[in-house]
Amino acid sequence: MNGLRIPPGIQVFNSIKNFRQWRRQILLDRQTLGYVPTMGALHRGHLSLVSKAKAACDHVALTIFVNPAQFSPNEDLGTYPRTLQADLDALAQHLDKAAVLVPQVAEMYPSGIEPEVSKQVGAFVEVKGFSHQLEGTTRPHFFRGVATVVSKFLNIVEPEQVFFGQKDAQQCVVIQRMIHDLHFNVKMNICSTVRESDGLAMSSRNTYLTPIQRKYALVLYNALKLMEEMYEKSTKHAPTLIAAATELVNRTQQEAQAECEIKLDYISIASPKDLNEVKGDIADGCIMSGAVYVGKTRLIDNLMVNVNL
Ligand code: PAJ
Repeated sequence: MNGLRIPPGIQVFNSIKNFRQWRRQILLDRQTLGYVPTMGALHRGHLSLVSKAKAACDHVALTIFVNPAQFSPNEDLGTYPRTLQADLDALAQHLDKAAVLVPQVAEMYPSGIEPEVSKQVGAFVEVKGFSHQLEGTTRPHFFRGVATVVSKFLNIVEPEQVFFGQKDAQQCVVIQRMIHDLHFNVKMNICSTVRESDGLAMSSRNTYLTPIQRKYALVLYNALKLMEEMYEKSTKHAPTLIAAATELVNRTQQEAQAECEIKLDYISIASPKDLNEVKGDIADGCIMSGAVYVGKTRLIDNLMVNVNL
């Protein structure tokens, strides 16, 4: 925190105790609090959630915390962008007041946090049935880490409302279920995905992309749009749609070969209810989603077709 310039209107808390004092006063004043959990490196996607929180509640709080429990040992915990000064400046430009909790890892994980799940000690939250598929296939412990840190933060922040982005659709489903099953007393809001002008979903990880990779990063959105267009115009047969999207990614991969490496992780058409794959024709709405590596950067995106989460 040394050398940090705190812009007017922004209050930064580094300890849970001090944050709780601030929060308690809001309760005593009978005012409401909207909460946006983030890992920082704020972009317009995050700021859209902040705007929604501001419109719905008297006060807005964010957490900025790169949560070690949701990274596996081979992932980008060490290099994940940490841009606290720019984040605070962006917030101050976006709204007149906000509280930001930036806790230490040791305080968030009093029992410590080992990168390997088998060595971890302490309390963790799992949302079974919704965490193993889609993103969970490549990242088996990811949603355990997310559910754990979000439950910790909901206990600390105690907001009336919490705001998440549809960009991370499975995360929304997992947290929705957690809030329901564990009786967290909070209203969950899911906000639409904010995109760059060419359609690329905004993400803190987009900063990893070189200019050439940025050009090819649209491949996933293009594949999802192709499935949506075919669904509307020609077929509702999920395997046919997935085959067409896969072919588009493969074609782009070949075109890009000399300039940049593209690797498909998955393309999925799943039911929003249970996140299971649609095997035949899409009956009601569905989530079209996928993940693609562009260079070493893993990008995810989704489209909701005839459905809201
Ligand atoms: P992070 O990736 O920082 O995202 C914080 C919130 O911003 C999430 O709810 C995410 O869905 C939303 N968001 C990201 N990109 C968006 C976009 N382009 N449009 C709209 N919303 C967008 O998601 C996490 O952090 C973490 O897993 C967290 C929930 C904070 C737990 O550690």
